Amino acid sequence: MTTESHPGLRERAAAALTAARARTAALTDPVTDQDLTAQHSPLMSPLVWDLAHIGNQEELWLLGRVAGRESLHPEINPLYDAFEHPRSERPKLPLLGPAEARRYAAEVRGRVFDLLERTPLEGSALLDDGFAFGMIAQHEQQHDETMLITHQLRRGEPVLTAPEPEAPYEAPLVAEVLVPGGPFTMGTSTEPWSLDNERPAHPRDTAPFWIDTVPVTNAAYEAFIADGGYREPRWWAAAGWRQIREHHIEAPLFWHREGPEDGQWLRRRFGVTEPVPGDEPVLHVSWYEADAYARWAGRRLPTETEWEKAARHDPATGRSTRYPWGDADPTPAHANLGQRHLRPARAGSYPAGASPLGVRQLIGDVWEWTASDFLPYPGFRAFPYREYSEVFFGPEHKVLRGGSFAVDPVACRGTFRNWDLPVRRQIFSGFRTARDV
Ligand code: AVJ
Ligand code: FE
Repeated sequence: MTTESHPGLRERAAAALTAARARTAALTDPVTDQDLTAQHSPLMSPLVWDLAHIGNQEELWLLGRVAGRESLHPEINPLYDAFEHPRSERPKLPLLGPAEARRYAAEVRGRVFDLLERTPLEGSALLDDGFAFGMIAQHEQQHDETMLITHQLRRGEPVLTAPEPEAPYEAPLVAEVLVPGGPFTMGTSTEPWSLDNERPAHPRDTAPFWIDTVPVTNAAYEAFIADGGYREPRWWAAAGWRQIREHHIEAPLFWHREGPEDGQWLRRRFGVTEPVPGDEPVLHVSWYEADAYARWAGRRLPTETEWEKAARHDPATGRSTRYPWGDADPTPAHANLGQRHLRPARAGSYPAGASPLGVRQLIGDVWEWTASDFLPYPGFRAFPYREYSEVFFGPEHKVLRGGSFAVDPVACRGTFRNWDLPVRRQIFSGFRTARDV
C-alpha cells in the first residue's frame, strides 16, 4: 500500500502520538517531583521511569531503527531497558529526574515530528502504513495505562479527576447469549497497526457455547464472597488457593469492609473511598479469583477463541469484524475507553457497542480474563522485536481481552491480546463467564 492511497496517514500518526503525549502529561503534570520519583508499589516503576522509557523507546525505534541516527544519550539506554532491571529495582538507578525526563521525551518528539514529515510511509515492514509510528503511539498509551495503575496504588490525596460515566444504558434482556458452533476467522492479517501476536488471520472452530451478556458485576461477586467462596478450596486452582491463604486475600484488591464482619464493602479508587457499586463490572481480580468464581457459579471462563468469536464473528455474513459493532472505529457511544472516566460503566451500558448476537461491553470497561495461556497463532512471526510478545509465550501467562476504561482506542480492537500472570490484581481486570451447551 502506498502513502498516496492512504491520504491522512501522516496526520493520523501525528494525532495518535500527540494524543498519547497529552495523556502522559495529564498523568504526570499534577504529580509533585517527589511523587514522580517515589515508588508507590514494588509492583510498579516510579512514574519518572515510565516517562523517560516512553521517550527512550520512541528514540530507539523511530530515530534509531527507522532514521538510522545515533542515540542522543547512549549511556541512558540500559537504564530504560525493561529487561535489564526489574521494576522493584528501578528507583535505585541513576534515572533522569522529572525535568530531565520531560525535556528528553520532548526533544525526541520534536525530532520524530520532523522525521514523520519527510519519511516515506512505505518500502519496509516498519514503515508500511506508518506501522512504527503507530506501534510507538500504542506503546506510550500502554505505559499510560501502567501509570494509571501506579496512580491507583498510590496513597494520599487524589490528583486525577474525570467525569462520571453517563453512558447510554439498556437493561440486558437475557443473562447469556448462545454462540453457534462452527468456524470463524481469528486474528488479523490486514489491520495496519496490529501487533505481531494478533497475526496472522487463521481459521478456528468452536463448539456452540453460552457466554454472559455482560461482565460479572460487583453484586454477583459479593454473593460469591458471602457464600464463603474464599474459604472453600474446591473452587480454587491449587496455586490460587495458596496465594489467597498466604496473602490473606478475601475480596478484590482495594476492597475493605466497614465494620467487623458483615459490614458494607467499600473500595478505594484513585484516592477516594466509596461504597462498592453493585451494578458495575468487578475490577481488580486475579485470574485465580475469576476462575474460582466461575467454578462456584457452575460455569467456566471463556477460552480466548470463544471470546474473540463472541466479539468478532458475524453469523449473518460469516465475516469477522474489527469490533463487536462492526468495522467502524470506537466512539463514546460504543465503549468506555481512553480514560474518559476513572471507572467502568455499569453493566448493560453501551447497547450500540453490542455484538450482532447481543453480547455487551466486550470492548472497554474491564480487561477480561480468559481461560487461555498466551500462545502464538499458527504462522506467528516476531515483529519487530522478540521482547514484545515472543518471550512471554507459554503457560505462565493468561490472556486478557477487550481492554479497560484505561485503554486508548489506538491500542484496542477485537483482535488485541493482553497477557499477565494469573496472580495479578492491580491491573484493571474483570471477567465474564461461559458454559458448554
Ligand atoms: C502488553 C501490557 C503486557 O506493559 O508489559 C509495554 C506492553 N511492552 N512496553 C506491558 C508493553 C513493552 C505490555 N503488555
Ligand atoms: Fe515499554
